[in-house]
Amino acid sequence: MSSYPYIRLRRNRKAQWSRDLSAAISVTPSDLIYPIFVHEGNDNEAIQALPGQFRLSVKGAVSIAQHAKELGIPALAIFPVIDKALKSDDGKEAFNPDNLMVRTIAEIKSKVPDIGLIADVALDPYTGHGHDGIIDDSGYVLNDVTIEALTAMSLQLAAAGADSIAPSDMMDGRVGIIRDALENEGWSNVQIFSYAAKFASNFYGPFRNAVGASALQGQPDKKNYQLDNRSGQIAMMEIEMDVAEGADMIIVKPGLPYLDIIKEAAALCSVPILGYQVSGEYAMLKWAANNGAFKYEQALLETMMSFKRAGCSGIITYGALEVAKEL
Ligand code: PBG
Repeated sequence: MSSYPYIRLRRNRKAQWSRDLSAAISVTPSDLIYPIFVHEGNDNEAIQALPGQFRLSVKGAVSIAQHAKELGIPALAIFPVIDKALKSDDGKEAFNPDNLMVRTIAEIKSKVPDIGLIADVALDPYTGHGHDGIIDDSGYVLNDVTIEALTAMSLQLAAAGADSIAPSDMMDGRVGIIRDALENEGWSNVQIFSYAAKFASNFYGPFRNAVGASALQGQPDKKNYQLDNRSGQIAMMEIEMDVAEGADMIIVKPGLPYLDIIKEAAALCSVPILGYQVSGEYAMLKWAANNGAFKYEQALLETMMSFKRAGCSGIITYGALEVAKEL
């Protein structure tokens, strides 16, 4: 018998216990990565474009790390907000051995040793023009010169105590070259979480506002290095290449608008896939909830389920603390 009334799919949905038993996926705090912004100030400063998020002092970052750890969140992704006066065309503050990232990582590692620290590797917080690498006169980001800079940056971050290096620049070949340098310099256990499939997206708006890199100079967008949103297949090639070059985990971003990519990536490769619910996605949820559209925590949790259903092992989200509390 293969149809109604013998088959009533609602029977499994009749009660909470049965729905729980039927659930194919779940979300736990251990799935979450919390991205934080750190600045030089002594205070935590609210980020207007990201309601509920702060530019933290180094001390504030340590407290948040402690708090996240207590909530069962395994790792933080750290982004620096660099003083305008320290930004330059070549982003050289990125190689200052005593820069904000180095001090933040060292400080968190000494006070909260057990939380994973993922260090973003790209030049955009450090360049006056706001691009992720070194540009030529036309504003084009130069691939190989940029990789040299990213490699130096990666070694410095590894020495500071970063557990994972996360290149977010989309240059060709950088994973292999960074891996090689880490091996040669004695950092063979430092992971590489590669932003392998990173699309040029409007949804990064609040992030760029948070780090002061909104006004891109030379070229108005990042489309000559980040992926074009009209093609999903090339993302698979980016992912395959990064895995072959030694990436330990793969990041897909943005998240929800690119769930098709996440699902395909999870089917394609065996390394863990991390989905990044980016700043604009988070801001949309916050602003919609603040205007009465829905209950924020529940909507946020629903999006977490989407990431897991699509095949993510982990989710990078500004809502990590809230998700963990809700669970
Ligand atoms: C920079 C970087 C960006 C994000 C993470 N790393 C912005 C960009 O590429 O312009 C965006 C994250 C977010 O929007 O939450 N390399």
